[in-house]
Amino acid sequence: MKIVLSPDPTLRQVCSPADPTDKGLKHLASQMGKTMYKNNGCGLAAPQVGVLKRIIVIDCNAEEDKKHLEVLLNPVIVAHSDETVECDEGCLSVPGVAFPITRWAWVTVEALDLDGQEIVYEKADGLLGRCLQHEIDHLDGITMFERLDPFTRMGAIREYQEALARGAKPGDTSVPE
Ligand code: NI
Repeated sequence: MKIVLSPDPTLRQVCSPADPTDKGLKHLASQMGKTMYKNNGCGLAAPQVGVLKRIIVIDCNAEEDKKHLEVLLNPVIVAHSDETVECDEGCLSVPGVAFPITRWAWVTVEALDLDGQEIVYEKADGLLGRCLQHEIDHLDGITMFERLDPFTRMGAIREYQEALARGAKPGDTSVPE
């Protein structure tokens, strides 16, 4: 699948709930997984492939031989830490750059799997917690740029435009996400 690049307006839409009885979702999720791995990402949200449904795929296992794709339908942050953490973050839809983004130190996320069963990520922190927050943002039309303060955002947009002009492609960042 082709990855939608910022500033495509598709990335700013709020996605509709995914219906777990929709038989087409398994195929979609598997295609999203392939696209994510091919571009060296550890997470991908449906709007990034042009589908405005609340579906994300993640794999935050660092080791290549332990690939395990996780599919979340309608993920919701139901609890989060008091403290926040700032860390450099990348996005397959914003190739060639990484920006320091402030996130909750941990989040508890509820979602459905492809069989409609409830799954819970209890106090997910580190890369997983960050990835979940980043991908759930995509479902609400929020990209990394919206997470930056207005002044930092202007510089970030300029930096991104320069990266695009250099020919940056999805996955061209040391912090894939
Ligand atoms: Ni992203």
